[in-house]
Order: sequence, then C-alpha cells, then structure tokens
Amino acid sequence: MSKDIHNITLIDGDGIGPEITKSVVEIIKACGVEINWDYQLAGARAYEKYNSVLPDDTLKSIEKNKIALKAPITTPIGIGFKSVNVQLRRHFDLYANVRPSKNLPAIKTPFNDVDLVIIRENTEDIYAGLETKVDENTIHGIKLITRQGCERIVEFAFQYALKNNRKEVGVVTKANISKLADGMFLNCFREIAQKYPNINTREILVDNLCMQLVQKPSQFDVLVMPNLYGDIVSDLCAGLIGGLGVAQSANIGQDCAIFEAVHGSAPDIAGQGIANPTGLLRSAVLMLEYINETNSAKRIEQALFEVLKNGVHLTRDLGGNATTKEFTNEIIKCL
Ligand code: NAI
Repeated sequence: MSKDIHNITLIDGDGIGPEITKSVVEIIKACGVEINWDYQLAGARAYEKYNSVLPDDTLKSIEKNKIALKAPITTPIGIGFKSVNVQLRRHFDLYANVRPSKNLPAIKTPFNDVDLVIIRENTEDIYAGLETKVDENTIHGIKLITRQGCERIVEFAFQYALKNNRKEVGVVTKANISKLADGMFLNCFREIAQKYPNINTREILVDNLCMQLVQKPSQFDVLVMPNLYGDIVSDLCAGLIGGLGVAQSANIGQDCAIFEAVHGSAPDIAGQGIANPTGLLRSAVLMLEYINETNSAKRIEQALFEVLKNGVHLTRDLGGNATTKEFTNEIIKCL
C-alpha cells in the first residue's frame, strides 16, 4: 500500500527554534511518516530578511498546505507590530486553541493525576485589538464576543469530548460580572449542551477555577472558555505538568491548523545545543493525530515517555546533562 505524503509548512522560528525543529523533523522521519516540509520564515529572522515579521510567502504556503508546524519566534523589540501568533490565528481563523495537560512520566510535580484539556476561544475577546484612547487618562478596551464565536467553540469542545472519550465539558466564565458578554458564552453553552446528553457539564467562574486547579486538578476534564481566561488558565495548567517547556498546543480552524510549542525562543540558551524539543515534539504529535498518522503519533509519544522515564538522557531544564542531539537520538532509538 502506498503511503500518504503530507505537504506541511514548517516555520523553524528564532533562537532555539531551528535546533528543536531539526530534532522534531529527524524524529518524525525516523518514524517513517513522509512529509514534504515547506520551510518558511516568521519573526525576527523574517524581519531581517524581508522587513516583515510575517512575509506573504509564509502566508501563501500555509494557505496552500492548510497545515503548519511552528517553532517559537522572537518578538523584535521596538518595532510596532501586532503579535505574529495573533495575526496567524486571525488570518486563518484558527478559532480553537487546544491545550492538553496530562502528567508526564518522571517529571515530578505537586500532583500526579492531572489529565485535562483547555479549549480556548482563539480569535475574539480583547485579542480583537479594539482599544481606543478617549483622552490622556482614559482608555476603552473592547471585549468582543459574538454568538457565532461562542457557538463554534462550544460545539468544538463537545465534539472534542466525544471523539476523545471524555466524560465532562465544563464552561469557564465570569458571567456574574460580565453579564452580557460572558453571559452569552454561558447561554450558548447551556443550549449546545442539550445536544450532548451523554456528556456531563459543569459551570465554573474563572477565579474559583484557578483556586480549584491548584488544589485538586484531577476533578477537571475538558474546559471551554473565552480567549483571555484560556490564555491565562492554559499556562497555569502547563505549570501543573512541568512547565511551558513540555506543553503542547494546537490552533485549529475550519480547514486549517497550526501546531506550536507554547514556550518562547529562549535566546539565553540559543545556539548551545541544549534546548529541550519536548514541547514542539508533543505539538507535532497532535499534528500527526490531526493528519490521521495516529499510529506514528503513538509511537513517538511512547518513545518520548520511555526516554523521560529512563531519566538518563534528559536535557538540562529537566535536571539532566544531555544535549538536544543526545536526547533526540535516544528517542529515535526507542521508536
Ligand atoms: P522563553 O519561553 O523563551 O524562555 C523562558 C525560560 O525558559 C528561559 O530561561 C529559557 O531558556 C527556558 N526555556 C524555554 N523553552 C525552553 C526549551 N525548549 N528548552 C529549555 N529551556 C527552555 O520566554 P522569554 O524569555 O520570555 O521570551 C523569549 C522570546 O520568545 C521573546 O521574544 C518572546 O516574545 C518570544 N515568545 C514567543 C512565543 C511564541 O512564538 N509562541 C511564546 C512566548 C514568547
């Protein structure tokens, strides 16, 4: 049987981006998945070369391939431009940000029973960039929430729960204060939940959620929320499983998706060959699942877990001495 060849845009980013990208590309190749990587730039290196942090060629490549893997990029300081990540999410209408948080083998954290998924609305809320200066001392910042935006993210969360055999979807708002905007998010949730009688539901205010997450995170399953709460809560949840360095994420739209590590370009360790590729690798695992290479996704995840469990070839951020290359080679050996 002939294998599928996938065309995927690859943004190898800045700082440690190229190092961890090389590692991930090698591991996927060793697993036997056939991918035509279309290398494109975004961020500081793109700015140096094209005077643009998000060149047209990069956008065209993603438009064509409908799928991208993106390493972290450096935000050039002192240049007035919008966040590349926010621009990409809005340009391709990647309305669902999926951030699973589950304990990893051998990474010690205060809890060992975390297994939850944050589904963050990715295009609205204060990220719509609607801020105006009324006068020197007054700013109006608009929190944009639309019914269509609420319905599609809530629907996405229930569909995600169904496909992934999850038992409960919780909705996170501040509807006691934001009665209209968060109130609409909550009402959409209540309406859509009726279509999914086999999935339990829960309603929780975001402040209470934060307190409960650091006391008993095991009580939560899938959680859906507006953009700003999702931004903050998903980093909190990354902290529950070992930090941003190991967290995975996917930005998903109707017919396009971008997978990325959640940490930054780590300029302090760039070029030293010691970066941990786990965050980008785990995001690539989500990408392989998305393109139906589920068997390879499982093999890579198991190989990664084995290396973490063995504990001998860990990178410095995880308390070891291994280089990126040694860590990568160990994963490839375990495949
Ligand atoms: P950062 O996440 O790059 O680094 C924070 C600390 O974590 C540093 O000590 C770094 O060495 C360490 N670290 C991060 N990833 C690591 C990895 N994979 N392996 C080992 N250690 C790792 O955050 P920082 O320093 O605030 O930002 C640096 C640059 O990255 C900035 O220009 C920022 O705007 C950008 N950034 C980009 C993101 C993206 O493209 N998605 C996300 C966050 C920040």
